[in-house]
Amino acid sequence: MKYRRLGKSNLEVSAIGLGCMPLSISPQRPTEEHAIRVIHAAIDLGITLIDTADAYCIDDTEPGHNERLIGKALAQLPPARREKLVVATKGGLVRPGGRWERDGRPEHLRKVCEQSLLNLGVDRITLYQYHRIDPNVSLEASMGELKRLQEEGKIQYIGVSNFSVMEMETAAQTAAFVSLQNEYSRQHRAPETDGTLRYTRDNDLAFLAWSPLNGIGGAKNLGRRHPFLESVAEAHGVSPHRAALAWLMGRGPQVIPIPGATRIESVRDNVEAVNLVLRSEELEELNRPKS
Ligand SMILES: NC(=O)c1ccc[n+]([C@@H]2O[C@H](COP(=O)([O-])OP(=O)(O)OC[C@H]3O[C@@H](n4cnc5c(N)ncnc54)[C@H](OP(=O)(O)O)[C@@H]3O)[C@@H](O)[C@H]2O)c1
Repeated sequence: MKYRRLGKSNLEVSAIGLGCMPLSISPQRPTEEHAIRVIHAAIDLGITLIDTADAYCIDDTEPGHNERLIGKALAQLPPARREKLVVATKGGLVRPGGRWERDGRPEHLRKVCEQSLLNLGVDRITLYQYHRIDPNVSLEASMGELKRLQEEGKIQYIGVSNFSVMEMETAAQTAAFVSLQNEYSRQHRAPETDGTLRYTRDNDLAFLAWSPLNGIGGAKNLGRRHPFLESVAEAHGVSPHRAALAWLMGRGPQVIPIPGATRIESVRDNVEAVNLVLRSEELEELNRPKS
């Protein structure tokens, strides 16, 4: 495994994280036993960044499903191994009837953050991210509450997710944060043109790339969808998924992909991306817009 600093925090995390969303959000999700095996396998392979959210569940009958899975997986590890992990969770989305809706009210963020502490079985959340801005609540109010939770010792570092550059600039006036979590993949190249990739680099923020393999539905067709990526993968004798992650990590030292997985084989394949060196002419072509 290789490691990257988490923005201006004093933490180092694995250059590839584990996105735990697919372990919880669908009725076809794996059993709890299997899900815990996937999390343990990721940790055994050197992954130290585990991404979750209280909203990773099927619907509002079971908020915190994913966090509780992680809490159980971590409780089975010796303390010395647990201490090396950075569990990054989020608040600000709710799942009425399985829909994704926003709630950035300070009282909601406080309630769910305190519940996340219990779900994860920790005294302090290492990275707590504001999941998606609620347009009905001022950013100052939402970020202000996260700052208070931080001052109370319930959060170590704050992160933001699905923010634009302007929103990050506004948020930074209220609370310091160390990471941005936005969508970034072969199919979703917006960070290269909307300024967020550059902003994270210039402001020493980690860029946690969500759905880095084109998402749960898109990952299956990654190679077919991107023939050049497929040819690069073939040339190196690896999967297009591994090649896509190696390309993403090459987009900046702050970029940390957090691929999701329900199979241990997927995790095994993905961690090997840290050792895949793409040739400069391959990177040049992959970096071209819409290649
Ligand atoms: N902040 C946000 O708003 C937001 C939004 C979406 C996601 N996220 C976070 O980002 C994480 C990743 O996004 P995602 O899970 O939506 O999509 P993703 O990582 O792009 O794709 C996940 C899918 O890729 C497959 N996969 C992974 N590695 C593979 C490999 N080496 N070969 C073949 N297939 C492979 C997995 O299949 P198997 O299940 O078969 O292993 C899974 O179905 C989430 O888990 C979540 O933590 C955040």
